[in-house]
Amino acid sequence: MNRPAVGGRLAAAQALRQVLDRGQSLDEALQLPLSKLEHGPDRALARRLSYAVLRDWPAVQALSSALMDRPPARRDRLAIFVLAVALAELREGREPERAIVHSAVEVARSGGLSRLAGMINAVLRRYLRERSAFESRLADNETIRFGYPGWLIEALRADWPDDWSAILEAGNQAPPLWLRVNRRHWSREQALQALRAAGHEAQLPDLPLPDALLLPTRVRISDLPGWSEGGLSVQDGAAQLTVDYLQLEDGLRVLDACSAPGGKAAHMLERAALDLTAIDVDAERLERVGETLQRLGLAARCLQGDASRPQDWWDGRPFDRILVDAPCSATGVIRRHPDIRWLRKASDLPELVERQAEMLRALWPLLAPGGILVYATCSILADENERQARAFLESCEHCEVIEHAELPGRARSAGRQILPGENDLDGFFHLAVRRLPV
Ligand SMILES: C[S@@+](CC[C@H](N)C(=O)[O-])C[C@H]1O[C@@H](n2cnc3c(N)ncnc32)[C@H](O)[C@@H]1O
Repeated sequence: MNRPAVGGRLAAAQALRQVLDRGQSLDEALQLPLSKLEHGPDRALARRLSYAVLRDWPAVQALSSALMDRPPARRDRLAIFVLAVALAELREGREPERAIVHSAVEVARSGGLSRLAGMINAVLRRYLRERSAFESRLADNETIRFGYPGWLIEALRADWPDDWSAILEAGNQAPPLWLRVNRRHWSREQALQALRAAGHEAQLPDLPLPDALLLPTRVRISDLPGWSEGGLSVQDGAAQLTVDYLQLEDGLRVLDACSAPGGKAAHMLERAALDLTAIDVDAERLERVGETLQRLGLAARCLQGDASRPQDWWDGRPFDRILVDAPCSATGVIRRHPDIRWLRKASDLPELVERQAEMLRALWPLLAPGGILVYATCSILADENERQARAFLESCEHCEVIEHAELPGRARSAGRQILPGENDLDGFFHLAVRRLPV
């Protein structure tokens, strides 16, 4: 096993420790360890193994506890994650077993855990000797079988009695790469041909998504033809549907109330010449909206502000369209962000639901008669979606739901829901409401 493979595995173990012990997001946790790796394949390995462990965490955690005589001292916690990476790899079965064990020992040494290298070796060898006995003890436990916390399994079972296990399994599959073509720059056909000419197996999705292309495998985005000229962006097909709910036309005055990092703001501006105000409560994240728009040659009025306190930033002129792409549990995008299942807690939900409701209440009066408000989340929980939508509709006067049966998703008692993996899409919810003239 060569050195880069050790580097990738060590980087994965270090990042996993940050996520699972310290609550950092995987993207943030990977930044430092990845920056120390020179080789692309090594960085890809670090990412792949981090994802594999997060999807398999209850099983590898249960196995390591059963296999070790006692847990390592606090200062040696990294050893848990070195073992987790090796156990996840052994369970995956993609590499020869001896190479995985040898590599784990090397990873421990390069991670400053030389004194635990013998223990790691012994634990992994014991697993290989007694594998079937250890694995059979795991078989009945749902948390271990699916790789999700119990509270989330219960919530999904309650909301989706016929679909919950398919949802959990979809969250463990690698998603395709969805691209959005900037049709101000070139046509989708031109983008498709350029990608194919560069050797990518780009496909047209079989869905009403006029700006979307699909790539079946991960690639380095910045190497794609047209990327540096602003011809392409990465955005899941489900998120791309949002502009269709908004029914945009040139000249409209639009509010994007939760705009960072600017994916949907950019899509709106690619579709129509709009007077767009982009708000976000987080000043640092708002800077990313400016960067996103600049890369694509687009512009909006970017304001830092709290969407539930328009009195602090609104100039008093009504909007023709309002997008509330609300902060949510992100339970619809777990296949892209497997850390979410461990970082989100059941106790986060009531506060999220209240924040979403406050935004809807505060923003509705800013909509012009005849205007459309779209509420969107990347959640699959009814409290944030269907129930939130119903509560909002009960409280708002002079409004009418726009159904959009022509768009992908399942009609709910209010709004439309896409479940993760359906049509290769992320889990997403949309509700479009028109304000009726009085
Ligand atoms: C789902 S993300 C938005 C994604 C964005 N629309 C896009 O397509 O790139 C939710 C955003 O809401 C912001 N946010 C959270 N609470 C907010 C509030 N009270 N007012 C405005 N923005 C808020 C977060 O900072 C985060 O950037």
